[in-house]
Amino acid sequence: MSSIASSFGKAAQRYEQSARLQREVALDTLPMLKDVPVGTLLDLGCGPGWFHSHLSTWCNELWALDISPQMLAKTQSQQIATRLMLASAEQIPVAAESVDVVFSSLMLQWSSEPEQVFREVYRVLKPGGKFVITTLVNGSLDEFHRAWQHAGYQSPALQFPETAAVVQLARAAGLTVKAQQKSYSWFFSDVFAVGREFKQIGANYVAIRPQGLSGKARWQAFAHAYEPFRTAAGLPLTYQVLFLFGEKPR
Ligand SMILES: C[S@@+](CC[C@H](N)C(=O)[O-])C[C@H]1O[C@@H](n2cnc3c(N)ncnc32)[C@H](O)[C@@H]1O
Repeated sequence: MSSIASSFGKAAQRYEQSARLQREVALDTLPMLKDVPVGTLLDLGCGPGWFHSHLSTWCNELWALDISPQMLAKTQSQQIATRLMLASAEQIPVAAESVDVVFSSLMLQWSSEPEQVFREVYRVLKPGGKFVITTLVNGSLDEFHRAWQHAGYQSPALQFPETAAVVQLARAAGLTVKAQQKSYSWFFSDVFAVGREFKQIGANYVAIRPQGLSGKARWQAFAHAYEPFRTAAGLPLTYQVLFLFGEKPR
């Protein structure tokens, strides 16, 4: 957990300029937030809190939680969140049934215990309370993985779970769930620009280079294997984003 926190901590300052995926995904949750009750909203993995001006529309108390002190400091500087928690989403330091809405965008995929996160979401929600959660699922970074494989190496980047498995975890925790999926593609001039994208979102703890491998030759093989994916817009990198929304039954 601490390496994830420190990786995101380093990214906190430059995050807002570069985090295009986070921005688009969070904005795409707005239609799902229209139905939530106005009350206490908890943002799990709030990052720098750039979305809080939007979230404040849907609540009168905004509680923000993150494992990165730097991210939380950025959130605090916005002066929108009414309660800040330096904590993990697997152990939320709030009382049972104290929250009307749980919001969490692109945090869950970094958790090593997503089932525990869903159990905590269930615990803290009031009966009838709502949640909107986004996360990355299988099929994300597909071009990246395949290029490494075509080059003859195992991909060093994170693999994401199947959509059905994530939905099942939420249901097993007792939540009523609806799911939607959307893909987002970004385009880059070369593989080095692809690597920089990983760093910019604070996810550079994901080894871009296979462990123990070094040297130009392997990168050249990877770069060569990525070329067949190139489009007129550049080298694509695609994320598959799962949107889960629903409620804790009364
Ligand atoms: C990709 S950022 C997304 C931030 C924000 N929700 C957004 O959409 O811009 C993921 C955030 O989750 C935090 N995070 C990662 N794992 C966490 C965990 N287990 N508990 C709480 N926060 C976590 C990171 O520190 C980071 O701020």
